[in-house]
This record gives sequence, C-alpha cells and structure tokens, in this order.
Amino acid sequence: MNVNQFNVQSLEVWLSTDSMMLTKFAIALLVSAQALRLAQKPSRCSTRLQSNAAPAEEIERRRNLAIISHPDAGKTTLTEKLLLYGDAIQQAGMVKARANGRSSTSDFLKMERERGISISSTCLTFEYGASRVNLMDTPGHADFSEDTYRTLSAADNAVMLVDGGKGLEPQTRKLFGVAQRSRLPVFTFVNKLDRPAMSPWEVLDEIAAEFGLETAVRTWPIGDGERFRGVLDVESDQVWIYERGARGDKASVTKIDYADEAAVAAAVGDEELVAQLAEDREMIAELTPALDDELLKTGAMTAVYFGSAMSDAGVEPFLDEFISLGSRPAPRTLRARKAEDERRQLAPTGDEFAGYVFKMQANLDPKHRDCMAYVRIVSGKFTKGMKVTHARTGRPLTLATAAMLFGSGKDTIQDAFPGDIIGLNNPAGGLFQIGDALHSGAAAVAFEPIPSFSPECFGYLRPSEVGASKKSFQKGVDQLLAEGAVQRLKQRGSGDGEDPLLAAVGELQFEVVVDRMQGEYGVACAIERVSYTIARWAQPELSPEDAWAVVDRARGEGALTGVFFAEDVFQRPVLLFRNQFTVDRLENDADLDLGLKPWALPPANAP
Ligand code: G4P
Repeated sequence: MNVNQFNVQSLEVWLSTDSMMLTKFAIALLVSAQALRLAQKPSRCSTRLQSNAAPAEEIERRRNLAIISHPDAGKTTLTEKLLLYGDAIQQAGMVKARANGRSSTSDFLKMERERGISISSTCLTFEYGASRVNLMDTPGHADFSEDTYRTLSAADNAVMLVDGGKGLEPQTRKLFGVAQRSRLPVFTFVNKLDRPAMSPWEVLDEIAAEFGLETAVRTWPIGDGERFRGVLDVESDQVWIYERGARGDKASVTKIDYADEAAVAAAVGDEELVAQLAEDREMIAELTPALDDELLKTGAMTAVYFGSAMSDAGVEPFLDEFISLGSRPAPRTLRARKAEDERRQLAPTGDEFAGYVFKMQANLDPKHRDCMAYVRIVSGKFTKGMKVTHARTGRPLTLATAAMLFGSGKDTIQDAFPGDIIGLNNPAGGLFQIGDALHSGAAAVAFEPIPSFSPECFGYLRPSEVGASKKSFQKGVDQLLAEGAVQRLKQRGSGDGEDPLLAAVGELQFEVVVDRMQGEYGVACAIERVSYTIARWAQPELSPEDAWAVVDRARGEGALTGVFFAEDVFQRPVLLFRNQFTVDRLENDADLDLGLKPWALPPANAP
C-alpha cells in the first residue's frame, strides 16, 4: 500500500485491502520525545552535526490542496475519486454508503456521519505517480468557515468545486473569499455534468464576473445529463470518452486525438454534440485566455475543468494537471516584531525545521482522551526524535515517537517534509494553541497569526443537570476551546467561576459543542443564548487597559447604550450589538475613536 490516509479528525482510517472494498482507515501522527541529538545548547556548538534541511526532491514532489465548495456540490465524492486514482483505496466509498450505515472515507466524526455533513477538516495523504498529495477536506457548512480558513492557511492550493447545475452558490462565494484572502492558486472543477447542467460558458461568465478571475479552460464537457459523453482535454487536444464502471470502480476511458474526426464522431455518437464540440473548441481557442502559470500561482486566474465525480469522468485529467501545475510547498510569512517592520518569508528550503499548529482536535479516539495538534511543516525536515523549541513558551521539546495508526495497528513515521501535516500529541490539551510555532534552529520563529471570523452567535454554556461533574465540564470546555471550535468571552466584571460565554460563527458550532460535551465528556449541557448578533473588538492593538479606557470614555458620553460589554481571553474589550445600524453609527464616529474591528489577532506577546 503506497498510501498514508491521514484523517486529521479521527483515528478512524479506512484502508482498502485486496479483498475488502473499504475498511476503516486512519492515521494519527503522534510526535513526542526522544533524546536530543544535536546540541542541547546549540549556541555552544561549534559545528553543526546534521542539517535539518529538506531534500529538494521531497519538497518538489509535494502537492497540498484544500477543497472548497457549497454543501452537496460533491466534495466527498470527488475526494473519494481522487483517493481512488491515488490507489489509496481500491473502490470509492461512495457517498451512498452513508445511507447504508457505512461512511465515506472523509467524513468521520459522529455528527458528520449522522447528518451527512462535513464538520471538521480532514487531511488525507496519498501517493500519485512520483508525487505525494496532501488533500485537506474542509467543512462545507457556512457555520464552520473558520475551520475552513485555518485549513486553507495550511494548504498551498485550493480546488473550488462547483455544481454544474447550480453554478456559484452562497458558500462557494464565501469560501472563495477566504481562499482569495490567502492568495491561493484556485483550480475549479465543475461537477455533476452527468446531470442537466448550465452552459459551461455561463459558468465561466459567473466566475469571471463574480470573482474577477480570468478563466483558463483546461477541459471542456461533451454534452450534459444523459447525453454527457466525456471531456475535451484542451492541452493535448484529445477527446476522453467515458464508460461508467461498476459502482465505486474507475470508469473506463477511451482517448482519441481530436484530429481524428471520424473516430471522435463515432465515439461521441451524437451529431449535434460533435458539431457543438467543434464550435466550442474554436471558441475556447479564440475567446478564452491561455493558461498563465504566474497568474494561476497568484490567484488571479483559475484553471477550469469539467466532469462528473460520481461517474468518474474528467477526474483523471484534472488530477494529472493539478500535479503538474499545482503550487509546491510555499514559503510562509513570518510575523514582524513591529508593525512597521518588513514582512519576511520562511522558505521550505531553510536549514532548520519550522512549522505551526493550524488545527486542534480533541478525542480523536474516544477511548483515549487525547488531543491532537496538527502542524503544517513550513521549512526543513522533521525527523523522529528531533529537538525543537516551542516558540511561544521557549520550552524545549523532543519529538521522539511519531506514530501512524492504521485502524488499530501502529506504525512509526521517521520523517516528514514541508507541505506535510503532522499530528502532535497535545498532553492534556494544554501545551499547544492554534498558531503556535515550533522550530529546531536557535533563532525563534513566529508566523503571521491566522485571522478569525467575526462571531455572530453568543450564549452561555451551562450544565443542564444538577450535580454534573464540574471537573468534566471544565475539561470539556478547555479542550473544545483549545480546538478553536468556538471562542470564549467573559462578561466584563463577572467572576472567574461564571459559566463560559461562547461566541460562534454559526449555530451549528453550538450544536457541536453541546453534542460533544455530552458524547465525549459525559456532561449534558445547554446553551442559553444572549440576543446579540454582532461582535466588534475595540482598539484591539492597544493594551487592554488603554482599550478599555477608550470604551469607558465613549460609554461616559452615553454613546454605548444597549451594548453588551465582554472581554476576550486576553482581557481586550469586545462589544456585542443587536443591530448593524448601531455598529455603523459608531464606526463612523471619528471622535469616539473606538477602532472597531470584526475580529482580532492574538497580541504579539500572547502567553
Ligand atoms: P458534499 O461532500 O459536497 O456535501 O457532497 P457529496 O459528495 O456528499 O455529494 C452530494 C450528493 O451529490 C450525493 O448525492 C452525491 O452522490 C451526489 N453527487 C456527487 N457528485 C456527483 C456527480 O458527479 N453526479 C451526480 N449526478 N451526483 C453527484 P445524495 O443523493 O446526497 O447521496 P447518494 O444518494 O448519491 O448517496
């Protein structure tokens, strides 16, 4: 088996074997200590014993992608098909299987299985030819955009999946905005061509008009719905005609040079479609821009593919091109010490290992109350047993045991490279926070923090049964907050024993918290909502004392009636509002100088 299928969410991994269609697979990469090998006190070392630089060929062969789409566009199905092509599984799990009680490979958590939605992001790793693909699945539901954003921060490419029958949908728009913030190269796959679809020209127009992207056509559909026959591969000028295989199997494909018109006509078997294809082919050459690698890499152009994930049509040419065009592990911006400092980049080719935590997940394995921190390797080579520094605390850590779990069996990873995601055991959920950097070199490394989304739902989390275990409640709250599932606020002036005031981007996040508190910590809880819908941080760049002074002055002037005063975990003022009108009024009042921001990065000196 040439694959590591690594689910960031759960220890459940489905592996396929020769005889079995789809069995549970999972990988958890647990990294911990071993004797430190290089200098315990690097400053006293006169010579470097071993470089932590990653070999160029390992960096070159890595491709990292996150799929963004509206729910139901076919993300899970496409993921399955990509795994199928990577020989990661031998038959697609098929989404249909969920209805029969079997899950598809990329949906893991209990609620995901029950509701058939993707809540948490998943990372699946597979080999494809000479490349290694790290495929990050992202939640499609709007309420989990924050999680998606974090995942995108760890990805080097985005694949925007569009339902060919519906075109761009609200969540595609929102997530595209997120990808654009990260300036990721975007590959577009227009799916479900085996159903009646919009004209491909209309889809291109929508993408260009709404996202301001140039669209480079890379494959083009031949028919749609029942007449869907396959795709024209623009680069090779070949027609790919598909015959569906048995459910879950790869489709069989016949490739014909377009120049062999008679063979194309015979294979398509529909005069009208053949004429349409000829016309479209000319129009593509005349009206659409050629692929420009530079524009693609900077997110100004998208490469567009058409197909049907379910019938496995058009997936292979898309994957092949993604491998050749997709960005290799990209440098990451380092955090400047002062706002005016120039932003430096850390390249994957650096001499030292460095990476950052972009995601946390508690209770991957319900039997072991573990918490996993997922680290995107940015630079250098991770080696089992290596010594690193936890940048935020300055604490030395030795990463000794890198375990990879397939179902119940354990395997050990020896090394990992830029673009890879490794899972570190986060003891008692306490050591790592999202955004934490790890580095092997003597010089401290800090990356640009991952911005958050502005929360829109607020409520107190309370145990709903008298006599509930305070300890379990606290532990659950701490771990779920560490994961970044929701944010914690506190009413200004309230005591420490107060039930936590949670802030979420969407309602479903609250439901997940309540569900997990019960399922994973055994504490039945309820959320008592407070009727505010907008949060604004006031002067978050100032010290909390100075920021509160600004707020108190505005309050003294009677400008903040009806506002709920809360503070975040850094004691900074967070104002909650019931309507946008008040926010607009305050934002436009230069005299008050409240400096309202929809979200705030952790302070540079955050503990
Ligand atoms: P998501 O992860 O983006 O939410 O989408 P998912 O893959 O779960 O697919 C959503 C629905 O769309 C599923 O149907 C799936 O079978 C269907 N689908 C995905 N790709 C294609 C495609 O290329 N063509 C067609 N015709 N359908 C596709 P469902 O009815 O929800 O489930 P099921 O009954 O098919 O299992």
